[in-house]
Formats: sequence, C-alpha cells, structure tokens
Amino acid sequence: ATHGLAGHADYMGKEIEEQPETAARIIDRLAPSIADGSLWASLSVPAFERVAVLGCGTSLNAGRVIASAFGALGDVPNSSLIASEASTAIVEPRTLVIALSQSGETADVLRAIDDLDLGTSSLVALTNSDHSTLARRADSMLNCHAGPEIGVAATKTFVAQVITGVAMALSALAATRRIDRDYARRQVDDLRRIPDLLAHAIAASQKAIPPLIDEIRDAQGFLFLGRGSGVVYAAEGALKLKELTYRWAEHYPAGELKHGPLALVEAGTPVVVIDSGDRRIESNIAEVEARGGRVIRIGGAGSTVPALGLSLGTPMPGGIDRWGPLESVVPLQILARDLALALGRDVDKPRNLAKSVTVE
Ligand code: G6P
Repeated sequence: ATHGLAGHADYMGKEIEEQPETAARIIDRLAPSIADGSLWASLSVPAFERVAVLGCGTSLNAGRVIASAFGALGDVPNSSLIASEASTAIVEPRTLVIALSQSGETADVLRAIDDLDLGTSSLVALTNSDHSTLARRADSMLNCHAGPEIGVAATKTFVAQVITGVAMALSALAATRRIDRDYARRQVDDLRRIPDLLAHAIAASQKAIPPLIDEIRDAQGFLFLGRGSGVVYAAEGALKLKELTYRWAEHYPAGELKHGPLALVEAGTPVVVIDSGDRRIESNIAEVEARGGRVIRIGGAGSTVPALGLSLGTPMPGGIDRWGPLESVVPLQILARDLALALGRDVDKPRNLAKSVTVE
C-alpha cells in the first residue's frame, strides 16, 4: 500500500510537497509560448468576447481564479458556472467556455457541456488527462500536466490548473491584442516566481501549523474569510477542511461577516483569514478577536503563517491582482491535513467521497 509514496506518510502529503516542482515544470514548458500568443494559437479557438468557466469542487475554484484573471488582466467579462447547475445557464454569443476537470470524467461536467447551447461559443477543456471523455468532447484541450494525483482531495491539480489556465489567459489576451507583449512578458516573469513562493509556503506552514493543532482540535466549526482575490482561496480552504476533517467549515467574503456569520463566532472559534493585501481585513479581524475568536492569519508579516509573497510581484494599476494569493493554498492544505491526521482520519480516502464522481 505504501508503493509510490517515496518515504511520505500519505499521498496527500507527497502531493502537497510536489507542488513547487510541478509548478516549475509547467511554467518552464509553457513560458516560451505565452507572450507571443502561440499557446493560444495552438488551441484554434475563435474570437471571444467573454469567458465562462465551469467545473465542480476544487476544479471549480481553480476555474474561478482563471475567470478572474481574464477580468483583472484584460477586462474580459467573466463568470463561473457550477457544473451541476449549468443546464439552465444562458451562454451569450462568442463566449469562451472553459470546462475544468482534473479527471475529465466528472458526470456533472460532462452533462453540463452536453446541455449547454454553445452556438458561436467554443469549449476548451482544462484537464489532467488527454484521454478523458471531457478532452474528447471539447473543441480543444489543454492538459494541466500535474502528473497522477492519488489523494482524493485535490491539491497539486489545483495549482497546476491555475497556472495552466492563467498561462492560457495571458496568451489569449496577448494574441488578441488586449494586452501588449511586454506586459505579458512581465506577467510570465511573475509566474516564474510561483515555485519559490510555493516552496517557501511549505516550509513556513510546516513550522507554523503543527503547534496550532492542539488548540483547534475540538473546534466543531470553522470560518474562512478573504477579500477580493482572496475569497476563492478562502473557499478552497473551507472545502479542504470539510473534506479531510469532517468538521463544518464555511467561507465568506470578509465584508459579509457582520451581515450574519459573526453570530457564529464565540470564544475559541477558529477563523482563518486570507490576507491578500486589502487593509480593510484588519477591521474584520478586530471584529472576530473582540468576540474571542481564534484568528489564524495567512499572509504578510505578523501572520500565523507569515511572509508569503502573495503573488503580488507586479501589482496591477489600481491594486487589482491577477491570480490572487496562490501560495496561500499551501497552508490551507497543510492545516486540513494536519488536523485530519490529529483526528485519526484517512487523509487519502476521506469517508463518503470519491476521486472522480461519475454519477450526477
Ligand atoms: C470529487 C473530488 C474533488 C474534486 C471534484 C471534481 O468531488 O473529491 O476533489 O475537486 O470531484 O473532480 P474533477 O476530476 O472534475 O476535477
């Protein structure tokens, strides 16, 4: 059963630690074809005016990051569709639809692409398998090349999908002259920083998270908060915690705290805050602390997991960032895994879940 673990206690731990190397491999392969538009050209996709992503679970979260990147980088109107709810969606003409599925076999995703009336729109699959049903049914296909992922809860495929999707977005925007090549090149330079940021996040998390576990071990509910580009990472953190630990976890845009979820906070309630640089998060943290909540802060200096680079290398004019604090996913994965192990859970095979869900 330990075959292939290469000294790791479980596949999830192995796959978390593989992320910097996986990211470096993907970026090295794609970098030369991003700014010149050739990555995009190789997909032969017709002109588009807007982007819609669809998927389930962690793939949907990766899709949301990619959809936002089209908006932040190139002002492209964008939306995301939960695959199981997509049958009633109206796809506007000239929409680039990106269907994300690690396995390419998720029934909700396959049903959604069958049901959508695409008209003048086109479908690109972003998957981890060339031979999957999704790859065969889409107009074109981009493999995220994460390598095999054995742990049921997705980790390195999320990072691989985000990087591959952002590379595609940059290439598409350069090819269609929505951004100039110099700007695209600078973004590629920032992509190249991601492997180091991920490696740093692993080292920082392995130091900072284990000492927290005793304190949060008996907590029955968790809140995950973020603002702006941090919200989707809060969503992924809450999803990982639910899947792995079987504890209740909710995510919210931090500004919504005072409109409801603050009522849940009492002495000791763990509240994980993704600090992606928006100073307004400070008042949200103060609101939690005033009620005795236990803030676990992921972000800049002074955080529980400090000194992440938060992917903000070249800030966008106006302070909008592009793919959000990608490295913050690492402490969130490690938090979920460490707590799950402390609770005696099987982190590679959480109860009731499957790696690939082939029923609707
Ligand atoms: C299952 C897995 C999740 C995964 C989701 C989508 O629910 O447990 O980890 O995110 O399916 O899988 P896909 O293969 O479509 O990315």
